[in-house]
Amino acid sequence: MHFLVLGASAGGGLPQWNCGCRNCEDARKGLIPPSGQSSLAVSPDGVRWSILNASPDIRQQMLDNPKMHPRALRDTPVASVLLTNGDIDHIAGLLSLREQTPFSLFATGDILDVLAQNRIFDAVNREKVERTRISLDQDFALQDGLQARLFAVPGKVPLFMEGDSVQTNLIGEQTVGVRLTTGEKVAYYIPGCAQITPALLDQLVDADQLFFDGTLWDDDEMIRTGTGVKTGQRMGHISVSGADGSIEGLKGIAAAKTYIHINNTNPMLQPNGPERAFVEAAGWTIAYDGQEITI
Ligand code: MLT
Ligand code: MN
Ligand code: ZN
Repeated sequence: MHFLVLGASAGGGLPQWNCGCRNCEDARKGLIPPSGQSSLAVSPDGVRWSILNASPDIRQQMLDNPKMHPRALRDTPVASVLLTNGDIDHIAGLLSLREQTPFSLFATGDILDVLAQNRIFDAVNREKVERTRISLDQDFALQDGLQARLFAVPGKVPLFMEGDSVQTNLIGEQTVGVRLTTGEKVAYYIPGCAQITPALLDQLVDADQLFFDGTLWDDDEMIRTGTGVKTGQRMGHISVSGADGSIEGLKGIAAAKTYIHINNTNPMLQPNGPERAFVEAAGWTIAYDGQEITI
């Protein structure tokens, strides 16, 4: 199974257009690599690809990665697109894929309802791009030779659909993780997750490779850095560090572990910082755009 990281960043990317935080400034200066918004490509053969989340940066991501280029007059190596929630950083790229080339679109009913409720997505012609509702905990073919299964992880509805009160650890169809297998090796992709639950730990026992939510280093990062008013928990994201964080919570998982969907404020993006050293000492790696992983 082949992976290509199209975008390692969370919503906003690195640098984010309106952010002057240290990481964003360093990315503008070329001191750390810039990174696009959240997307991972997966393939059973390195030729036909499935894209997990279509980010607003998808046009540039496809330009930057020759494996994504057309091989004929009107063509794409992309067989399918799968969405893990209805957030803007995961769905807006569909609008750039509207040019009448067929592919399959997979998501849960709740996530497809987000598209149905926002008519701009009708621009993605349903006759060319068939939308298939996927039930939780059922195997399906993401493409020939690549099986997937969606499972609920704690999360919330998309930011732009929040009401006055928001439950941030909903278990349902609105936020899912993906199990991927070509038969032998097993990988998991979970770019958004509010909490490590016993059910999630049970799910991950057969993982060879895990891509996991690395949005924030700690829960009050946005408040502390003056970049926002919400905690990570309020945004539906577990922190990397701390007693309730993902390093601690997932320490028993024997897979190769990679953080993805990383917010531009996260100090672990600094290559020589103590946070990066801590993450790596705990056995994790940090995804970057253009990264290829084969298992
Ligand atoms: C998130 O991951 O929390 C969302 O992408 C936030 C957003 O929509 O900007
Ligand atoms: Mn996001
Ligand atoms: Zn920033």
